[in-house]
Amino acid sequence: MNFPVALQPILAPSLLAGDHADLAGSSSAVEALGLSWLHVDIMDGHFVPNLSFGPETLAALRRRGSRLFLDTHLMLSEPQKYLEAFARAGADRISIHVEPPYDHAAALARIRALGCCAGIAVNPDTPADAAAPFLAAVDLVLVMTVQPGFGGQAFRRGMLPKISTFDALRRSGGFSYRIEVDGGIDLASAAECRAAGADTFVAGTSFFKARDKAAFATAFANL
Ligand code: DX5
Ligand code: ZN
Repeated sequence: MNFPVALQPILAPSLLAGDHADLAGSSSAVEALGLSWLHVDIMDGHFVPNLSFGPETLAALRRRGSRLFLDTHLMLSEPQKYLEAFARAGADRISIHVEPPYDHAAALARIRALGCCAGIAVNPDTPADAAAPFLAAVDLVLVMTVQPGFGGQAFRRGMLPKISTFDALRRSGGFSYRIEVDGGIDLASAAECRAAGADTFVAGTSFFKARDKAAFATAFANL
Protein backbone atom coordinates (compact mmCIF):
# COMPACT_ATOMS: atom_id res chain seq x y z
CA MET A 1 0.00 0.00 0.00
CA ASN A 2 1.21 3.52 -0.71
CA PHE A 3 1.14 5.92 2.23
CA PRO A 4 1.12 9.65 1.65
CA VAL A 5 4.26 11.45 2.72
CA ALA A 6 3.39 14.81 4.25
CA LEU A 7 6.54 16.40 5.58
CA GLN A 8 6.28 19.81 7.21
CA PRO A 9 7.42 22.58 4.87
CA ILE A 10 10.88 23.97 5.59
CA LEU A 11 12.17 27.30 4.30
CA ALA A 12 15.92 27.38 3.71
CA PRO A 13 17.09 30.92 2.92
CA SER A 14 20.09 30.90 0.60
CA LEU A 15 23.17 32.73 1.87
CA LEU A 16 24.19 33.41 -1.74
CA ALA A 17 21.64 36.23 -1.80
CA GLY A 18 22.82 37.62 1.54
CA ASP A 19 25.38 40.37 2.16
CA HIS A 20 28.77 38.89 1.21
CA ALA A 21 30.51 41.55 3.30
CA ASP A 22 28.40 40.58 6.32
CA LEU A 23 27.55 36.90 6.06
CA ALA A 24 27.25 36.58 9.83
CA GLY A 25 24.65 39.35 9.79
CA SER A 26 22.69 37.66 7.01
CA SER A 27 22.83 34.36 8.85
CA SER A 28 21.74 35.96 12.13
CA ALA A 29 18.76 37.56 10.39
CA VAL A 30 17.59 34.05 9.44
CA GLU A 31 18.13 32.71 12.95
CA ALA A 32 16.38 35.69 14.54
CA LEU A 33 13.19 34.79 12.68
CA GLY A 34 13.15 31.40 14.37
CA LEU A 35 14.05 29.61 11.14
CA SER A 36 16.38 26.67 11.55
CA TRP A 37 17.94 26.10 8.12
CA LEU A 38 20.44 28.03 6.04
CA HIS A 39 21.24 26.94 2.47
CA VAL A 40 24.91 27.42 1.59
CA ASP A 41 25.87 27.24 -2.10
CA ILE A 42 29.42 26.16 -2.89
CA MET A 43 30.60 26.74 -6.48
CA ASP A 44 33.89 25.81 -8.12
CA GLY A 45 33.91 27.81 -11.38
CA HIS A 46 34.00 24.48 -13.24
CA PHE A 47 30.83 22.49 -12.62
CA VAL A 48 29.10 25.87 -12.64
CA PRO A 49 30.42 29.11 -14.16
CA ASN A 50 30.66 31.00 -10.88
CA LEU A 51 32.47 31.07 -7.52
CA SER A 52 30.97 31.53 -4.08
CA PHE A 53 32.03 30.24 -0.66
CA GLY A 54 34.30 27.57 0.82
CA PRO A 55 34.53 25.48 4.01
CA GLU A 56 36.02 28.42 5.89
CA THR A 57 32.75 30.30 5.39
CA LEU A 58 30.87 27.63 7.34
CA ALA A 59 33.56 27.43 10.01
CA ALA A 60 33.44 31.21 10.46
CA LEU A 61 29.64 31.17 10.82
CA ARG A 62 30.01 28.51 13.51
CA ARG A 63 32.64 30.58 15.31
CA ARG A 64 30.18 33.47 15.31
CA GLY A 65 27.75 31.19 17.13
CA SER A 66 25.41 30.10 14.35
CA ARG A 67 23.34 27.08 15.35
CA LEU A 68 21.51 26.91 12.04
CA PHE A 69 21.23 23.63 10.17
CA LEU A 70 23.75 24.26 7.40
CA ASP A 71 22.22 22.78 4.24
CA THR A 72 25.32 22.69 2.08
CA HIS A 73 24.91 22.41 -1.69
CA LEU A 74 28.15 21.42 -3.41
CA MET A 75 28.17 22.51 -7.07
CA LEU A 76 31.56 20.93 -7.64
CA SER A 77 32.99 18.69 -10.34
CA GLU A 78 34.89 16.67 -7.72
CA PRO A 79 32.83 16.95 -4.51
CA GLN A 80 34.30 13.74 -3.14
CA LYS A 81 37.56 15.60 -2.45
CA TYR A 82 35.96 18.11 -0.10
CA LEU A 83 33.53 16.11 2.05
CA GLU A 84 35.77 15.95 5.12
CA ALA A 85 36.51 19.67 4.89
CA PHE A 86 32.84 20.63 4.84
CA ALA A 87 31.89 18.17 7.57
CA ARG A 88 34.69 19.49 9.77
CA ALA A 89 33.65 23.07 9.05
CA GLY A 90 30.15 22.44 10.40
CA ALA A 91 27.94 21.28 7.52
CA ASP A 92 24.82 19.40 8.67
CA ARG A 93 23.74 18.22 5.23
CA ILE A 94 25.99 17.82 2.23
CA SER A 95 24.25 17.56 -1.15
CA ILE A 96 26.26 16.48 -4.17
CA HIS A 97 25.30 16.52 -7.84
CA VAL A 98 24.62 13.39 -9.83
CA GLU A 99 25.99 14.78 -13.13
CA PRO A 100 29.81 14.70 -12.73
CA PRO A 101 31.61 11.33 -13.02
CA TYR A 102 32.78 10.10 -9.60
CA ASP A 103 31.75 7.29 -7.27
CA HIS A 104 28.44 8.74 -6.06
CA ALA A 105 27.56 5.78 -3.82
CA ALA A 106 30.90 5.97 -2.04
CA ALA A 107 30.62 9.74 -1.62
CA LEU A 108 27.10 9.50 -0.17
CA ALA A 109 28.22 6.77 2.24
CA ARG A 110 31.19 8.93 3.25
CA ILE A 111 28.91 11.90 3.97
CA ARG A 112 26.88 9.78 6.36
CA ALA A 113 29.99 8.25 7.91
CA LEU A 114 31.13 11.80 8.64
CA GLY A 115 27.93 12.31 10.63
CA CYS A 116 26.12 14.49 8.09
CA CYS A 117 22.84 14.05 6.26
CA ALA A 118 23.27 13.28 2.57
CA GLY A 119 21.55 14.80 -0.44
CA ILE A 120 21.63 14.13 -4.18
CA ALA A 121 21.06 17.06 -6.54
CA VAL A 122 19.80 17.01 -10.13
CA ASN A 123 20.12 19.75 -12.73
CA PRO A 124 17.16 20.82 -14.86
CA ASP A 125 18.29 18.73 -17.85
CA THR A 126 18.93 15.63 -15.74
CA PRO A 127 16.07 13.11 -15.56
CA ALA A 128 14.90 11.71 -12.22
CA ASP A 129 16.12 8.28 -13.35
CA ALA A 130 19.73 9.40 -12.94
CA ALA A 131 19.23 9.75 -9.16
CA ALA A 132 17.10 6.62 -8.75
CA PRO A 133 20.02 4.33 -7.78
CA PHE A 134 20.85 6.58 -4.84
CA LEU A 135 17.45 7.16 -3.26
CA ALA A 136 18.02 4.69 -0.45
CA ALA A 137 21.28 6.45 0.42
CA VAL A 138 19.98 10.00 0.85
CA ASP A 139 17.88 12.08 3.24
CA LEU A 140 17.09 14.67 0.59
CA VAL A 141 16.70 15.02 -3.16
CA LEU A 142 17.53 18.50 -4.45
CA VAL A 143 15.65 19.36 -7.64
CA MET A 144 17.24 22.36 -9.36
CA THR A 145 14.51 24.62 -10.68
CA VAL A 146 17.04 26.84 -12.49
CA GLN A 147 20.37 26.10 -14.14
CA PRO A 148 22.76 26.20 -11.16
CA GLY A 149 25.39 28.90 -10.76
CA PHE A 150 23.51 32.13 -10.15
CA GLY A 151 20.76 33.46 -7.94
CA GLY A 152 17.91 35.58 -9.22
CA GLN A 153 16.87 33.43 -12.19
CA ALA A 154 13.30 32.63 -13.21
CA PHE A 155 11.66 29.46 -11.87
CA ARG A 156 11.40 26.67 -14.44
CA ARG A 157 7.86 25.35 -14.27
CA GLY A 158 8.89 22.42 -16.43
CA MET A 159 10.53 20.87 -13.36
CA LEU A 160 7.15 20.19 -11.68
CA PRO A 161 6.73 16.73 -13.27
CA LYS A 162 10.19 15.75 -12.01
CA ILE A 163 9.18 16.74 -8.47
CA SER A 164 6.07 14.57 -8.82
CA THR A 165 8.23 11.69 -10.05
CA PHE A 166 10.46 11.91 -6.96
CA ASP A 167 7.35 12.09 -4.80
CA ALA A 168 5.92 8.98 -6.51
CA LEU A 169 9.26 7.16 -6.11
CA ARG A 170 9.28 8.14 -2.43
CA ARG A 171 5.84 6.65 -1.89
CA SER A 172 6.39 3.48 -3.92
CA GLY A 173 9.82 2.86 -2.47
CA GLY A 174 8.85 3.61 1.15
CA PHE A 175 11.53 6.33 1.35
CA SER A 176 11.37 9.35 3.62
CA TYR A 177 13.77 11.74 1.88
CA ARG A 178 12.84 15.37 1.66
CA ILE A 179 12.31 16.92 -1.76
CA GLU A 180 14.01 20.30 -1.94
CA VAL A 181 13.55 22.83 -4.73
CA ASP A 182 16.20 25.43 -5.46
CA GLY A 183 16.07 28.35 -7.88
CA GLY A 184 13.50 31.04 -8.53
CA ILE A 185 11.47 30.07 -5.48
CA ASP A 186 8.98 32.60 -4.15
CA LEU A 187 5.62 32.02 -2.52
CA ALA A 188 3.85 31.39 -5.85
CA SER A 189 6.39 28.95 -7.29
CA ALA A 190 6.76 27.26 -3.88
CA ALA A 191 3.01 26.60 -3.78
CA GLU A 192 3.22 24.91 -7.18
CA CYS A 193 6.19 22.83 -6.03
CA ARG A 194 4.40 21.92 -2.78
CA ALA A 195 1.41 20.68 -4.76
CA ALA A 196 3.77 18.54 -6.84
CA GLY A 197 5.31 16.98 -3.70
CA ALA A 198 8.15 19.27 -2.60
CA ASP A 199 8.54 20.06 1.11
CA THR A 200 11.81 21.99 1.37
CA PHE A 201 12.18 25.40 -0.23
CA VAL A 202 15.41 27.24 -0.91
CA ALA A 203 14.78 30.96 -1.29
CA GLY A 204 17.58 33.39 -2.01
CA THR A 205 16.48 36.56 -3.74
CA SER A 206 12.85 36.36 -2.62
CA PHE A 207 13.84 35.95 1.05
CA PHE A 208 16.54 38.60 1.27
CA LYS A 209 14.50 41.12 -0.73
CA ALA A 210 11.32 40.52 1.29
CA ARG A 211 10.42 43.65 3.25
CA ASP A 212 8.60 41.68 5.91
CA LYS A 213 10.73 38.59 6.39
CA ALA A 214 8.65 37.32 9.31
CA ALA A 215 5.49 37.35 7.20
CA PHE A 216 7.41 35.70 4.36
CA ALA A 217 8.57 32.91 6.69
CA THR A 218 5.07 32.43 8.11
CA ALA A 219 3.63 32.10 4.61
CA PHE A 220 6.11 29.33 3.82
CA ALA A 221 5.37 27.54 7.08
CA ASN A 222 1.73 27.44 6.04
CA LEU A 223 2.30 26.10 2.53
C1 DX5 B 1 21.73 28.54 -7.65
C2 DX5 B 1 21.79 28.18 -6.21
C3 DX5 B 1 20.62 28.65 -5.43
C4 DX5 B 1 20.44 30.13 -5.37
C5 DX5 B 1 18.97 30.39 -5.49
O1 DX5 B 1 22.78 27.93 -8.32
O2 DX5 B 1 21.88 26.77 -6.04
O3 DX5 B 1 20.62 28.12 -4.11
O4 DX5 B 1 20.92 30.73 -4.19
O5 DX5 B 1 18.77 31.75 -5.62
P1 DX5 B 1 17.34 32.36 -5.95
O6 DX5 B 1 16.42 31.95 -4.87
O7 DX5 B 1 17.62 33.82 -6.01
O8 DX5 B 1 16.92 31.81 -7.30
ZN1 ZN C 1 21.63 25.85 -3.94
